[in-house]
Amino acid sequence: MVVSVPTTKQNDLSMSSIEHLFAYNKQWAANHVNDDPQFFKRLSDQQAPEYLWIGCSDSRVPANQLLGLAPGEVFVHRNIANQVVHSDLNCLSVLQYAVEVLKVKHIIVCGHYGCGGVIASMDNESRGLMDNWLRHIKDVYRFHREKLDAVTDQRERANLLCELNVMEQVANVANSSILRKAWDKNHNITVHGFIYNLHDGILKDLSVSVRG
Ligand code: CO
Repeated sequence: MVVSVPTTKQNDLSMSSIEHLFAYNKQWAANHVNDDPQFFKRLSDQQAPEYLWIGCSDSRVPANQLLGLAPGEVFVHRNIANQVVHSDLNCLSVLQYAVEVLKVKHIIVCGHYGCGGVIASMDNESRGLMDNWLRHIKDVYRFHREKLDAVTDQRERANLLCELNVMEQVANVANSSILRKAWDKNHNITVHGFIYNLHDGILKDLSVSVRG
């Protein structure tokens, strides 16, 4: 569906800093109803997405838009550097709901090159609370130190860590009690690892899909 809405930039010029969001939203809703009068009625009755997206919080990597999916088509969890941590109740609850209630068929862990969280994990600066979160990415570095240290270009090394981080999180999803239980019951779910390029908007499949 092609939705034509005024950009937030255009509206910034004429409205207060937050009012334009309501104007944008009204126009967006009206466009959907115009294209499909039952759109919101249908969605309010139920959601049945086929995909769970676990991605980075980065504002430049929005799941729905870059996959061309409409509301209702992808269940989304995002955090800094697309982590799947075995003690993170937030992520695990999303995972359980997606698998057991929504019965998604595909789980996509998506990272992106130039990820600020991944880059921040590579230095020894202190950033307060978030150091505890970045610690998980430092662990990924430690697992693959030899391979990473062999890359001399700083940016290339960070991008390799972005890829390795996705692969690690795919393994974390696949090793979770939730996926093990689902696969034991022969549920048809595949876990994928993708990486997104901010420079051209293109998604790449890292070919690490796990299907039971
Ligand atoms: Co990021």
